[in-house]
Amino acid sequence: MDEKRYIRLGVNVDHVATVRNARGIAHPDPVRAALLAAEAGADGITAHLREDRRHIVDDDIERLMNELELPLNFEMAATDEMRDIALRHKPHAACIVPEKREELTTEGGLDAVKGHNYLVPYVRELVDAGIRVSLFIDPEKDQLDAAVSLGAPVVELHTGTYCEVEEGAAREAELHRIQEAAAHAAAVGLECHAGHGLAFDTVAPIAAIPAIVELNIGHFLIGEAIFGGLEGAIKQMRDLMDRARAEE
Ligand code: PXP
Repeated sequence: MDEKRYIRLGVNVDHVATVRNARGIAHPDPVRAALLAAEAGADGITAHLREDRRHIVDDDIERLMNELELPLNFEMAATDEMRDIALRHKPHAACIVPEKREELTTEGGLDAVKGHNYLVPYVRELVDAGIRVSLFIDPEKDQLDAAVSLGAPVVELHTGTYCEVEEGAAREAELHRIQEAAAHAAAVGLECHAGHGLAFDTVAPIAAIPAIVELNIGHFLIGEAIFGGLEGAIKQMRDLMDRARAEE
């Protein structure tokens, strides 16, 4: 597929660590999963180091940086602790996400409008260190405009609502919102990614949006790996993305 039409797949290995941590032993190892994901066709690996270290821990980031050839997308909250860790490791990319201690997963996008002044120094320091910064935001025009004014080169559109709502009119409306946001991102010069909650039955319409160049997918792939293996799950996802792209 020509480079312009290709859409990258970032595999999020957080929940390999969730299973490992349930036993407090070394197995299953998220770094091993990342290396396998690379062989299966992933273009990058994503890992979210949360404040409470509930899945990925500091040593995982260290090992991913040392052992992985693929680019690492370091998901992080905008805190001094995480900024310092990012600056120490200098991953290829950092995706700034909102983080609430009590949530099960990243529930909504970052509020780049209200949080603008707070976010300015974090974005600037990471960008200055040569890290490709993305902001995980809801698919809304004002959030995209705020990303531009913050100097973030990339946004990741939150697809959680699109995946959660009932199939039919509600899903179509959410898809439309993401399509409009992706078009706006391209118009204002932002590189556009998307992710959260994507599965085999929801990925194609998102992968078909021409302005979106990367999807980050975790929970579904790791869950599906229980039944058919991680390699097969990634290959099937890759195939669905490629087909959607070719048909677009
Ligand atoms: N993108 C971001 C910014 C996320 O926080 C997450 C979840 O950690 C994902 C993508 C992947 O979501 P999921 O695990 O539901 O595929």
